[in-house]
Amino acid sequence: MDESNAIVIFGASGDLTRRKLMPSLYDLYRKGRLPKNWRIVGVSRTDFSDEAFQAHVEAGVKEFARSMYDARQWAEFAANLCYFRGDLTHFEQLQGVDRMLCEWEDGRQGNRLYYLSIAPNLYEQAIANLGAADMVHQDHGWRRVVIEKPFGQDLASARALNQAVHRVLDESQIYRIDHYLGKETVQNLLVFRFANSLYEPVWNRNYIDHVQITAAETVDVGHRAEFYDKVGVVRDMMQNHVMQLLALVATEPPTSFAAEAIRNEKAKVFQSIRPIRPENVAGCTVRGQYRTYRDTPGVAPGSTTPTYAAIRYYIDNWRWQGVPFYMRSGKALAAKSTEITIFFKRPPHVMFPMPEGAQLAPNYLSICIQPDEGIEFSFQAKVPDTVAEMRTVDMSFQYEQSFGAMAIPEAYERLLLDVIKGDPSLFTRSDAIELSWQLIDPILEAWQSKHAPPLSFYESGTWGPVEANELIAHDGYHWTHGCGQEGEA
Ligand SMILES: NC(=O)c1ccc[n+]([C@@H]2O[C@H](COP(=O)([O-])OP(=O)(O)OC[C@H]3O[C@@H](n4cnc5c(N)ncnc54)[C@H](OP(=O)(O)O)[C@@H]3O)[C@@H](O)[C@H]2O)c1
Repeated sequence: MDESNAIVIFGASGDLTRRKLMPSLYDLYRKGRLPKNWRIVGVSRTDFSDEAFQAHVEAGVKEFARSMYDARQWAEFAANLCYFRGDLTHFEQLQGVDRMLCEWEDGRQGNRLYYLSIAPNLYEQAIANLGAADMVHQDHGWRRVVIEKPFGQDLASARALNQAVHRVLDESQIYRIDHYLGKETVQNLLVFRFANSLYEPVWNRNYIDHVQITAAETVDVGHRAEFYDKVGVVRDMMQNHVMQLLALVATEPPTSFAAEAIRNEKAKVFQSIRPIRPENVAGCTVRGQYRTYRDTPGVAPGSTTPTYAAIRYYIDNWRWQGVPFYMRSGKALAAKSTEITIFFKRPPHVMFPMPEGAQLAPNYLSICIQPDEGIEFSFQAKVPDTVAEMRTVDMSFQYEQSFGAMAIPEAYERLLLDVIKGDPSLFTRSDAIELSWQLIDPILEAWQSKHAPPLSFYESGTWGPVEANELIAHDGYHWTHGCGQEGEA
């Protein structure tokens, strides 16, 4: 039977749709990757005609799509783009969307992707109403629902949301998005580890000394202050993006590239991470705030919301016992950089003459997620024309050099295509979401208790509070940033 493929975006007038979803769909169209008989339906309350909506999307595509704007191809794309003015809190209005889709599907096998690009407090109602409007049964084609981040504010709310979602949808219909997982560099982590024979034998406590994961932003909270003040860096960045990176670094080899095999192994990592007890939270975490944060309109007076956090975790399994994992993330920092650095142990014996008290620098592998996507391996080399003087040098892989400047697609392109194909590998399963909240919750709770470390302040444009340096220096290390550049100013 002939089939049709509808992509229904709830929140069609919003920022994410304009900046990411529509430009990604346009790029997919230009690459010929959208399925046959496709159509995009935008739904929100703003009063757009189809033409006004198309013009709104066109401006976003011109600004944000990776591919060059092409008037002819845009016209072809726009011909499949329509708008439905509706409020998803009223299920009768969703029935209107359903009627519109049924008419277009015209008895074909009607596959539908519903993208919830709406505020998190609307997820539950939106899904309940999709159910009430009888729009999620799969008798005549698949029905898949993409849920944006954040998924919950803590374990209790994430659990409640999972339960509410499962009342209407089967887990196989749910795609909880974390766009970090759609980044090429993040996907490459599994290839790097498991498609090369060199690294896996040393990817364990016998050779790896410690791991650092940094997700640093230069931007401050800006116009998102009111939202951000209720959330903070741990909920905004750590619970989702940074924890996902940790899981990919630490996972055991999945038995196959199948979604469930990968998701099972990631869940096991979360199960193995040692929870931080309240009485230990001051020794294992740092919470910071940039100095001018409280002056931002929308931030509560005297707010203690952290804009910076550093956390040390241990993973209690055979592979990682005793290896510290340091994670940090913050706003208004010195550089925009997301990277994972794996530090290897120093050689057990040094036969080269070295100054008294000096140590060999460790080998380390920097996996740059963004912005300079690539991988660098730093090792010791002999300085020419010396007896045995050594210096750290790099072997470097840059995506841009190897695959071309335009090689890296927008993460949403890959993720949207995966939903259409029904591949949930890069989406978070319900148990993994709850497990990561289970680890993050005790920290957030302890930060509200007598065990809380003091809130540390830092200047914008620096690498965060000195206490974060002390956290890692206490174990004999220092933070690194920037592939190939050791140490921080
Ligand atoms: N923006 C980003 O870069 C980004 C990044 C990661 C995750 N996210 C997540 O993506 C989601 C959307 O974010 P956003 O930044 O695009 O938010 P936004 O700009 O505020 O857009 C929200 C959308 O929801 C629509 N909406 C609100 N109430 C509605 C209702 N009752 N019925 C139908 N539509 C309704 C709004 O349109 P009307 O007012 O016209 O109804 C608007 O189109 C959020 O969950 C956010 O956390 C966003």
